[in-house]
Amino acid sequence: MKIKSICCIGAGYVGGPTMAVIAQKCPDIKVTIVDLNESRIAAWNDSNLENLPIYEPGLADVITDARGRNLFFSTDVDKAIDEAQMIFISVNTPTKNYGVGKGMAADLKYIELCARQIARVSKHDKIVVEKSTLPVRTAEAIKNILDNTGNGVQFQILSNPEFLAEGTAVQDLHNPDRVLIGGENEEAISALFDIYSNWVPKEKILTTNVWSSELSKLTANAFLAQRVSSINSISELCEKTGADVSEVAKAIGMDARIGSKFLKASVGFGGSCFQKDILNLVYIAKSYGLHEVADYWEQVIIMNDHQKNRFSQNIIKTLYNTVSGKKIALLGWAFKKDTNDTRESAAINIAQNLISEQANIAVYDPKVSEKQIKLDLLDLDEKQMDLINVSQDPYEACSNSHAIAILTEWDEFNTYDWKKIYNNMLKPAFVFDGRNLLDKKQMIEIGFTYIAVGSSNL
Ligand code: UDX
Ligand code: ADP
Repeated sequence: MKIKSICCIGAGYVGGPTMAVIAQKCPDIKVTIVDLNESRIAAWNDSNLENLPIYEPGLADVITDARGRNLFFSTDVDKAIDEAQMIFISVNTPTKNYGVGKGMAADLKYIELCARQIARVSKHDKIVVEKSTLPVRTAEAIKNILDNTGNGVQFQILSNPEFLAEGTAVQDLHNPDRVLIGGENEEAISALFDIYSNWVPKEKILTTNVWSSELSKLTANAFLAQRVSSINSISELCEKTGADVSEVAKAIGMDARIGSKFLKASVGFGGSCFQKDILNLVYIAKSYGLHEVADYWEQVIIMNDHQKNRFSQNIIKTLYNTVSGKKIALLGWAFKKDTNDTRESAAINIAQNLISEQANIAVYDPKVSEKQIKLDLLDLDEKQMDLINVSQDPYEACSNSHAIAILTEWDEFNTYDWKKIYNNMLKPAFVFDGRNLLDKKQMIEIGFTYIAVGSSNL
């Protein structure tokens, strides 16, 4: 079967870039991305590419290539479903915040709504592709809904998890390490295989059964997050013993069996995937009575929470056990560099901890809007909200502060005039580098009390 028209439900961080690249690489396929969120679709359609709803290096070029040619953004979900031979479901699957599995299981209500809508609207046979990260056996649930409420229309379900990382999404999509297609129906699998093989070498396209595909995605994220928690656990030991975590990471990373990637100690991992997927894995293990498996993976999250908390506790302790009324500048709010995504960002947790100690917080992030930062802190009361100031200028954010905390590894932080920043701060001037980004020697020479993750200040 040759696919000529695709619809993707969900124009978010996954659906947007992924479908844009498919459209760019397959000019013969009409790709329509739909979303219920009207302002998001308007932003994707904005002629000013600065206004795209997500910031991702290289994305504007992809949009320029394909938008209006064979890539379309729309809020007319029914029409796009009806016209498409293949439908990708790329809606959000947050952790449930109610009922059974609260705080752990994935909330599948958006997925189910999509499945029901597809069933209601479809008049012709379709291939439905799970793109969102989902618990194992979700495909079965989708198939059940489609088969039982459809009008005799045949649906084939495929799992095609996305492995792109934010900040490098376009590069990851252009040159993926692998593409994974899980399914049972040969014809459906080969239809999707043919799409990817327009630009991905065939040997990098793996086909598996549906459950393996679903579980591989959760496992990949769990392993990646585990590496970060592992190195972060060692960072605390380094601080106590006089070892330097960057040196340890380099030394172990040169072992080809370990590898050098994903060994950067930090203020804690964030992002929409790691915590959610591990919680999901833990929940699935528990639901099969595999308590040791569940406890094993839960420890990755416990260590991450510990890393975030001890970072803010260390700021408070170092500033003579009180931050009340003191200005602390937070440089970086996104969960990593080169994205405007703030979901589960360590910065949120650190700001909350400092505000609960009545610190005055000045935030600067090159790509995150003030509106988003305030939305992330909605749990605070009105009085606490007054303690937050969002600045458009890093020098202003740092001026008259007692301390600066680097929370995102934005390259531009390395280009600042740190001498000037030092001169405008209260003394002693503290820098807590949650990303080991700045040059320690240079910072100390300027006069800062420079405290990095995973190195001792003894
Ligand atoms: C992750 C997976 O990498 C990707 O394959 C999957 O599709 C989605 O989840 P993402 O969350 O976008 O991608 O970013 P990633 O680069 O994995 O970083 C996640 C978090 O870990 C960030 O907060 C990052 O700063 C942190 N991290 C990463 C570290 O603290 N140290 C490291 O060495 C690597
Ligand atoms: P991800 O990071 O997984 O892409 P996002 O939250 O960025 O997640 O994007 C998911 C998108 O899916 C949101 O823009 C949301 O409005 C959209 N969405 C959720 N449910 C539906 C639905 N039933 N129909 C259309 N769009 C939906």
